[in-house]
Amino acid sequence: MRNTLIIEGGAPLNGQVRVSGAKNAALVLVVASILADGETILDNVPRISDMEYLLQILNDIGVKTRWQDDSSLSICPPDGELKTRTSYELAKRLRASNLLLGAMLGRQGEAVVSLPGGCDIGSRPMDLHIKGVQALGAEVKLEHGYIYAHAKKPGGSRVYLDFPSVGATENIIMMAARTPGQSVIENAAKEPEIVDLANFLNSMGARIRGAGTDIIKIEGVEELRAGRYAIIPDRIEAGTYMIAAAISGGEILVENVIPTHLHPVVAKLQETGTIVEENDRGIIVRGTGRVKPVDIKTLPYPGFPTDMQSQMMALLSMAEGSSVIVENVFENRFQSVDELKRMGANIKVEGHTAVVEGVNRLHGARVRATDLRAGASLVLAALAADGCTEIEEAGHIFRGYENIETKLTSLGAKLK
Ligand code: UD1
Repeated sequence: MRNTLIIEGGAPLNGQVRVSGAKNAALVLVVASILADGETILDNVPRISDMEYLLQILNDIGVKTRWQDDSSLSICPPDGELKTRTSYELAKRLRASNLLLGAMLGRQGEAVVSLPGGCDIGSRPMDLHIKGVQALGAEVKLEHGYIYAHAKKPGGSRVYLDFPSVGATENIIMMAARTPGQSVIENAAKEPEIVDLANFLNSMGARIRGAGTDIIKIEGVEELRAGRYAIIPDRIEAGTYMIAAAISGGEILVENVIPTHLHPVVAKLQETGTIVEENDRGIIVRGTGRVKPVDIKTLPYPGFPTDMQSQMMALLSMAEGSSVIVENVFENRFQSVDELKRMGANIKVEGHTAVVEGVNRLHGARVRATDLRAGASLVLAALAADGCTEIEEAGHIFRGYENIETKLTSLGAKLK
């Protein structure tokens, strides 16, 4: 697999780019499809390597999947039971494989889920997922790197999440959708991807109310009917191209977006002096030269997304002054800092806080993508840097950005 991305910086990016379906919605909706009987068709599914890994896991436990075209995917679970155990070899590549916990429990009352891998952005425990499924009647034990869960007599219940975890909220929704009685999630995650999951399940006959608020109520139903559903656009991919316009001093129309999902990013970009306008085709972003510094705090939605923090850091590393970035969601999400410094950035990290002293210019260097969004921040920095940047381990970037090379090239980036 190609694993190095070489970018010649300095060209302003201009034109239009169409955003793909949301990675984080697509992964959970594909998994949730096993809760229904029969063939589900999902449209607007991004063909990224995280999706390919997930499909391998599903195929391994007995689910048939088939691409109908570039973005429509057919998912067909068998009439009988699925293999309960996910393979460690496959699951370690993809953190989202942990979503099989709730889906398998909802479908057949049993799951053996490997403790997951994925981006190395700090400790990613599963205590809240486990607390949730236990409240709904699952017995859980952890052994040899696996979660063994079994629900003999599941029943609806009330779960309070200490932190509004996206994955835990999704797992509980999926199990509760087919668990008899009413379940209530308090302090639930409010991300748009949660709303998409609830809308999808409701389109198949589930009874979920309150998704998008911090209290979600689910009346379990006996069965769900498979159907067809289109996934929301990827707000993080959209935000990344918006920053590409700002950092390169170009003008990009970002198409296929839901503007409300992007409000936290738009607000911060406007504070930097970047021009952002909505029209009926999407969002237009115009870079205006060196940006103003701004302070950022990542928070659960509708706060500023942790998944956009690294990309914003790349932009602020060339601001006219100093910015403070506080990372409140993940503990180890400043991994691009050392790589950005290799390109001339001036950033100091103390615990959860990074102080970014803007510099006049970045210069090309050999750098390494340590995780998906850190990789995206290096791409952005490379677009603005003088000379050539060689990004190693670019496979991390392809995990989450569909056709990034084609999309950037069509905007005028010089890629090798
Ligand atoms: C999802 C997204 C990821 C995004 C993140 C936060 C997917 C596939 N991934 O990840 O891109 O960055 O939401 O928006 O949708 N936590 C616990 N105990 C738990 C679960 C989580 O303490 O049982 C903590 C985590 O360590 C982390 C925080 O909660 O500090 C947020 O994690 P969570 O919202 O669960 O993120 P993911 O669902 O893993």
